[in-house]
Amino acid sequence: MNSIIYNLESNNNLNDNDLTCLLETDIYDDELHKVADKVRKENYGNFVYIRGLIEFTNYCKNDCYYCGIRRSNDKSDRYRLNKDEILKCCKTGYELGIRTFVLQGGEDSYYNDNLICDIVSDIHKLYRDCAITLSIGEKSYESYKSYFDAGAKRFLLRHETANEEHYARLHPEIMSLENRKRCLFDLKKIGYQVGSGFMVGSPYQTTQNIIEDLRFLQELEPDMIGIGPYINHKDTPFAGKKNGTLELTLRLVSVLRLMFPYALIPATTALGTISLNGRELGLKSGANVVMPNLSPVETRKKYDLYENKICTGEEAAECLGCLERRVESAGYRIVTDIGDVKKHA
Ligand code: 5AD
Ligand code: FES
Repeated sequence: MNSIIYNLESNNNLNDNDLTCLLETDIYDDELHKVADKVRKENYGNFVYIRGLIEFTNYCKNDCYYCGIRRSNDKSDRYRLNKDEILKCCKTGYELGIRTFVLQGGEDSYYNDNLICDIVSDIHKLYRDCAITLSIGEKSYESYKSYFDAGAKRFLLRHETANEEHYARLHPEIMSLENRKRCLFDLKKIGYQVGSGFMVGSPYQTTQNIIEDLRFLQELEPDMIGIGPYINHKDTPFAGKKNGTLELTLRLVSVLRLMFPYALIPATTALGTISLNGRELGLKSGANVVMPNLSPVETRKKYDLYENKICTGEEAAECLGCLERRVESAGYRIVTDIGDVKKHA
């Protein structure tokens, strides 16, 4: 076996030179994906966990240059789901066998802490056997703590890039990597299962930046790591920039599986958007989570972080059915339990 792959498999660590070789050429790809799949099977068998995604608001106070729902995009058709609409999504999901709900939205102050806690505690009361995940951006320690006490035990917040200069090229000056990191460590301190991650092939990203992302993740030790290719959106300042590639994203899924054998790694919607069978390939490269969309069909198109997002015309049941078929065709099996992360080594 190639010595780079051997190193990665045997000690979970690679130096920066090895990582550069792995990421910048395709010569290791087959072996890399194979070894990553072996490691995922040692840890998780052929199980794939499902997380039902509820995109409850596309209002956002932030103005990230890459994102279609950024504040300055006045072409965005804005919507908000009320508590009853959110609960209806949960009900549909529950009946389909989903036991984790991910409430994701832009940073929308309409949903103040009281409202978030109210929604979370109602879901928690109605679905005692379910996990509630929030993905609602940067908040204070106290706010995060209040959601946790209301019953949310998981939080997704991608760091997006761990390099200061790169961060500044993707975000307006008012946002900072420092605060992003503060949020992630606060979430851990409170006791959340934390998910982080980054976009692959975002504008100005270098291989060195990606290596910094991996090093930051080693420091953070998240339970979940979500990555997906950057995909252009025409109504953003990055209109016309190149998309991230399927190949590099898959390579990184495998590298993540090897560096973080226990992590929950989703085959993301963005991966399924740049390539028809992107999610299947993601699973075969080491991913072990899929996230069917539970949002009302009427609002799905409006939550357009990037163009041509898949699953915008499907009912939740079709979405899950489609994902189930895809998972099975790749040789894996969906499990409907709550799907906690396995203990870290
Ligand atoms: N392409 C791909 N991913 C994007 N995200 C936001 N905008 C884009 C885009 N144009 C990702 C970010 C964010 C997650 C919810 O979606 O990484 O954290
Ligand atoms: Fe949504 Fe395929 S996963 S339609």
